[in-house]
Order: sequence, then structure tokens, then C-alpha cells
Amino acid sequence: MSFREKLNLDKLPEHVAIIMDGNGRWAKEKGKMRVFGHKNGVLAVRDTVEGAAEVGIKNLTLYAFSTENWNRPKLEVTALMELLVSSINKETKTLMENNVKLNAIGDLESLPKRCYHELLEAIAKTSNNSRLTLTLALSYSSRWEILNATKKIVADTTSGKLKADDINEKMFESYLSTHNLPDPELMIRTSGEHRISNYLLWQLAYAELYFTSTLWPDFRREDLFKAVYDYQQRERRFGLTSEQIG
Ligand code: IPE
Ligand code: IPE
Ligand code: MG
Repeated sequence: MSFREKLNLDKLPEHVAIIMDGNGRWAKEKGKMRVFGHKNGVLAVRDTVEGAAEVGIKNLTLYAFSTENWNRPKLEVTALMELLVSSINKETKTLMENNVKLNAIGDLESLPKRCYHELLEAIAKTSNNSRLTLTLALSYSSRWEILNATKKIVADTTSGKLKADDINEKMFESYLSTHNLPDPELMIRTSGEHRISNYLLWQLAYAELYFTSTLWPDFRREDLFKAVYDYQQRERRFGLTSEQIG
């Protein structure tokens, strides 16, 4: 029986976040350049997005490029940016066919101009789609996001728009770039690494974490379904006792 068939469709996470890791190692295993791994990673993205839409997951957020990734060799960064432009361009068709709305978080203005414009165009084109919201984290780091939110809160408090007493979790969340998304219930990281790497630190506070040794270019929808199935077997206690949850 496949994991797709085992899934309880009434107990799906509303939001799944993924750290797509292992492209470089996948390419190395095959004696190829790292960029070859990134290119094949796009196929994994397509299948995962279609799989999420197929079963009815409403939000999928993919870590595509971190703030720290800017420090990689220039050749790799340039290739990744070019791949991003061509993929967004090509994949918009798939997004339209699957009724997927594109969204992006991160320091988007730091992206090369062409990339930024391509991204905005795809976001505008898919803005009326409603089956799944696909968020790409690009030039994203969670500490950057939290600092940004803090700066805006300070500015609004100074100008009198916001009172210090009104700052609570809900208010703080409204200043994050994920303000229109629920917190992810499930976070998946591929490639056997067991860390968060500056991803959604606030939003993952109570997420279930799932790690797989599969390298990202090999990841397919059935791997997503396996992770969701694993999530469905867990008891989420949020600080309570098992008995309290019943
Ligand atoms: C993930 O794969 C993609 C990005 C970070 C852009 P990596 O490029 O990190 O691949 P590994 O971890 O070196 O194998
Ligand atoms: C995290 O992967 C960022 C993305 C997947 C885009 P990295 O490969 O950059 O993370 P570290 O360096 O192994 O922590
Ligand atoms: Mg990596």
C-alpha cells in the first residue's frame, strides 16, 4: 500500500515547510557539477508541489536560497539565480494548471533585477489561484526576518501607531513575512542533516520535524506523503499531558 493511500485526508497539515537540501551531494555522487544537482532539484519541486496540491495541502513553503547562501562561490550563486529565472518562467504554466498561487518571502530586492521581476510577474499572474499557496523562501533567513519585524514595530511604536502594551504574539506575527500563513505543522529536511539553518525560527515553534536521508533531487510526492503519514501518527501535545489531549 502506498503512503498516498494510507494518508488520512481529514488530518492533513495545513502548512508544510521544506528545507530542500542535498543537491550538491547528489551531483557529486554522479561525478557532476553542483549546478547539475540544482537543475534536477527543480523536478523534485514540481512533483512535490503537484503532490501537495493533489492531496489538498493548502500551504507549502520551500527554502530555496538562504541569506548565507550568498557566500557560496560566485559561479554557483550566478547559476542558481539563472536557474531561478528560467524555472519560474517555465513552471508558471504548471502552477496555473494546478491552480497554485505563488508567494515569496525574504529579502527579495537583493535578488538580481531579472530574477526579482520574473518573480513578481509570476506572483501577479498566479494571484487568483486558490488550491495551494506555494511560498518560496529566497534570500531568506529567519533572524533577518525577526530583526526586520522588530525594526518595524519600533518605528510604529515611536510614531504612536502602536502602543508597547499592545505587542503580543499575534501582533508580532503580523509583522513577519509569513503573516498571511498559518504556522507550519510539519517541517521536512532532506539529505540527512538535522538542523534548521535559520529557517522559520518563530513559525516552527511547535512544528513536527521530519528528517530523511533522501537527497533533494530524488525527492518525489510519495516521499512527501510518507512524511505526512509519519506526522499523522504523532501526538502533538503543545505542553499538555497525553491525558489532557484525550
Ligand atoms: C540545497 O542543496 C540547495 C541550496 C542550498 C541552494 P545544497 O546546494 O545545499 O547541496 P549540499 O547540501 O551541498 O549537498
Ligand atoms: C539550507 O541549506 C538552505 C536551503 C536549503 C536553501 P544549506 O545547505 O545552505 O544549509 P547548511 O549550510 O547545511 O546548514
Ligand atoms: Mg546543503
